[in-house]
Amino acid sequence: MTKLLLANIRDLHCVSSSGEERKAGLQMKNTAVRKDAWVLVENDMIVGVGGMDDCPDPGSDTEVIVCTGSLVLPGFVDSHTHLVFPESREKEYVDRIRGLSYEEIAKRGGGILNSARRLREMSENELLEGAIQRAWEILYLGTTTVEIKSGYGLTTEDELKMLRVANNLRNYCPIGIKTTFLGAHAIPAEYKENRQGYIDLVIQEMLPKVADEGLADFVDVFCDEGFFTVGETELILKAARYYGLTPKIHANEIANSGGVQVGIAHDALSVDHLECAGPEEIAALINSNTIPTVLPGCSFFLGIGYAPARKMIDAGLPVCIASDYNPGSSPAGNMQFMQSLGCTIMRLLPEEALVATTLNGAAALGLSDQVGSIEVGKRADLLITEPMDSLARLPYYHTRDQIKTVIVGGQVLQK
Ligand code: NIG
Ligand code: FE
Repeated sequence: MTKLLLANIRDLHCVSSSGEERKAGLQMKNTAVRKDAWVLVENDMIVGVGGMDDCPDPGSDTEVIVCTGSLVLPGFVDSHTHLVFPESREKEYVDRIRGLSYEEIAKRGGGILNSARRLREMSENELLEGAIQRAWEILYLGTTTVEIKSGYGLTTEDELKMLRVANNLRNYCPIGIKTTFLGAHAIPAEYKENRQGYIDLVIQEMLPKVADEGLADFVDVFCDEGFFTVGETELILKAARYYGLTPKIHANEIANSGGVQVGIAHDALSVDHLECAGPEEIAALINSNTIPTVLPGCSFFLGIGYAPARKMIDAGLPVCIASDYNPGSSPAGNMQFMQSLGCTIMRLLPEEALVATTLNGAAALGLSDQVGSIEVGKRADLLITEPMDSLARLPYYHTRDQIKTVIVGGQVLQK
């Protein structure tokens, strides 16, 4: 048995200490802090948490990390990414600098369809190589659990290929992984004149195969202007439910699309983006179990408005923040930076941003019983920061990586 003791922790932000599944509204300010604390890990699990006045005596079989002056946090849970993708799209980035919008680029066959063309030419191994690099990149930055979507294949074979790569990544990186089938990410060029034909393909061919091979935990649809309508989304979500796939959907990024409402109506675990969400969407969310997930990296990179996360928390909602790491709208998987955007632009308190990127991320993946907080029985995913006086230092130094040590499933990664 491997034992690990983190001792003399200045501030241990457990995030939860009573087994809550998520935190909403005013609770989001409370990160269940213990001062002068310790955490004990056995193998890959947290087995004890306490104050230094009753610290267990480490035996000779216990590795001790002295955390004087540092904060210890739960590993970040990034509940929305497109981590498996073929290559960067910086030409489109320059086109946007010159004045084209994300939607205009998409209409010209760029954007998602650009990535799809390239992905179809690539082997599983080539795709895997890029994904392994990005998985280690974000793990070292503190993300210990990540969700990965398909959606750049847009043929049955290529969607399955993407999902196999996402699943196979587990053999190359100890980061926790959940996968999502996003066949309805865009209408591929060959179905431009036959939308229904593509939706039939998603429902009748892709979904059964994804389910049969057990490749995905969730289903996603890009329910937005220029992509999929509410009616099309409904058809796909209904079929997915038959196969046991819970929805997590892209909603209200480009327009007030009705995506939030259709997600709620189909018991989506989360609705994500929400840049164009207003009071009606907030009201609908209050009467639901669906978690609003905001993606400030996308607003930053596309230069569009930010989701009203402050208003959502003030209305009592459990807000989650994710990176949306992808080559078109957010080529960034650094959750420390997402917290900064959450604080500086969305006006979340540092404590709220921490909850939004840990426990609420876990809830948005149905994983709150395993990760997202520092509690006995959860996986030992822990972050040790540089010495610092307060949690606010993290979003304050918004370009500095302040995570000194990452522990994932009890395994210590020194940097
Ligand atoms: O979440 N909005 C839809 N999908 C991605 C972007 C995909 C891309 O541009 O490659 C997003 O922003
Ligand atoms: Fe996305």
